[in-house]
Amino acid sequence: MQRLDKLLADADVASRSALKSVIRSGRVTVDGAVVKDPSRKVEEDAVLALDGKPIERKRRMVCMLYKPAGYVTSTKDKDPTVMELVPEGMRKMDLAPVGRLDKDTEGLLLMTNDGVLAHKLTSPKAKVSKVYYVEHEGIATQEDVAAFQKGIVLKDGEACMPAILRPMGPGKSEVVLGEGKYHQVKRMMASRSLSVTYLKRVKEGGLGLGNLEKGQMRELSAEEEALLFQA
Ligand code: URA
Repeated sequence: MQRLDKLLADADVASRSALKSVIRSGRVTVDGAVVKDPSRKVEEDAVLALDGKPIERKRRMVCMLYKPAGYVTSTKDKDPTVMELVPEGMRKMDLAPVGRLDKDTEGLLLMTNDGVLAHKLTSPKAKVSKVYYVEHEGIATQEDVAAFQKGIVLKDGEACMPAILRPMGPGKSEVVLGEGKYHQVKRMMASRSLSVTYLKRVKEGGLGLGNLEKGQMRELSAEEEALLFQA
């Protein structure tokens, strides 16, 4: 249940303060009945109308974007942002990026208008794993693998949770993290003298990019969303 004035404000009908007088004047109906109390709690899926016209509600949306390099993970910046990659038809959905990828990092970036889900996904407690394909200078050794397993201490003294490093041949590795510190993969690799030259997030939880093309975005099904919380 939500307050009527909040539901209408979320649907961009007017500001919450302006809505109070609109509702009090009897112009708003809930499931066909006039409601004049702005604080009335109504079901989230109630049919709301203003002057007899149904009000389109913003539904919850969870999407994944294949972020190309060159875009900042932010809603506003002087440089191009990931918001420019949101398709026209989804622009009114108030989507925001979940966590961040660096400007030069590519790959899977979730976007949603569900703040509770975004918080759940970014909380270190949730331990949603993130898998990165990394190209780097040097060759990752078994000592590097063991150091990741133990938990890397970054050059500034910050301690990381145990992580997985899987060498995939000279200059190529996979890294699996359960947390998301600033520039974490780059800083962890640098602490082992394995400077990152290319970084791509390929998976979050059990969800991969599939056949999504670079720069494209699409909505997730409920099943795909559930995959996020599977290791
Ligand atoms: N780690 C990084 O260093 N950069 C990213 O964009 C993501 C993880």
